Amino acid sequence: MLVYLNGDWIPAESARVSVFDRGFIFGDSVYEVIPVYGHRPFREAAHLARLKASMAAAGMDERLGPVHWPAVCARLAETLQSGDGILYLQVTRGAAPRQHGFPVNAPLTLFAYARPRVSEPAGSAAHEVTAIVCDDIRWGRCDIKTTSLIANVLLVQEALTRGADEALLIRDGRVNEGAVSNVFAVCDGQLRTAARSHLILGGITRDVVLELAAQLGISVLECAPSRDELTGAQEVLITSSGREVAAVTHIDGRPVGNGRPGPVFDRLHTAFQAFKEDVRMGRRA
Ligand SMILES: Cc1ncc(COP(=O)(O)O)c(C=O)c1O
Repeated sequence: MLVYLNGDWIPAESARVSVFDRGFIFGDSVYEVIPVYGHRPFREAAHLARLKASMAAAGMDERLGPVHWPAVCARLAETLQSGDGILYLQVTRGAAPRQHGFPVNAPLTLFAYARPRVSEPAGSAAHEVTAIVCDDIRWGRCDIKTTSLIANVLLVQEALTRGADEALLIRDGRVNEGAVSNVFAVCDGQLRTAARSHLILGGITRDVVLELAAQLGISVLECAPSRDELTGAQEVLITSSGREVAAVTHIDGRPVGNGRPGPVFDRLHTAFQAFKEDVRMGRRA
């Protein structure tokens, strides 16, 4: 497998980054994950805009790592044999003697690779997950897509240890998002999800789902549900580049609604699959 590293294309086994890289030392680094369908990156412009926003929020100077990401993404997407997969892009503040303050003029480290989808979700059963509820132990800038993910790692591991797939995160009594996904609850027929703020990552899949909901005439309220609203919800969904749109059938071992994916999920899932096929066929970006 060839990976992109600082302007070069190198076999993954021989790609090297300094042990003094700030991504390694401080987690001083941001990233993106872009799904690919039919060799076409999904919502590439939005993903690259978010990468730029994460870099700006982290005070990273783009001039220290010039790169034309669309060309890198196109080349990586071509390497995916089945045409479907995930692009991973990472930018760190570069290698420098260990001091917290920004180094002067250290070139950014730029890394990217592609991997096939582990298993292409087939049918709606692959889009059913279970979840637990946890306190949101993360920092206050969840809108920055940083690789400093130890809190998310601990939360996902807690979910796995308890036999679930995802952790839904509560802060100040509200369910803002999941450890690796955005969260939607259907309450009284209305689709509820947290508004964009520093408390969530503005998911690209979330944005697509909000667009599809508008097209389908599903009423939406961008206000994070309370814990009680989550518990009493008719349906709960999560969205992410990896999982697409998934129905949460059980939370903390108790069924959501009747414990089966509900009608709002079915409509959004069907619409998302159709949207994806349009991307695959080049009918839309
Ligand atoms: C914390 C968090 N929220 C939301 C998302 C969903 O974002 P996207 O739909 O852009 O993949 C992710 C994806 O990894 C995430 O880690």
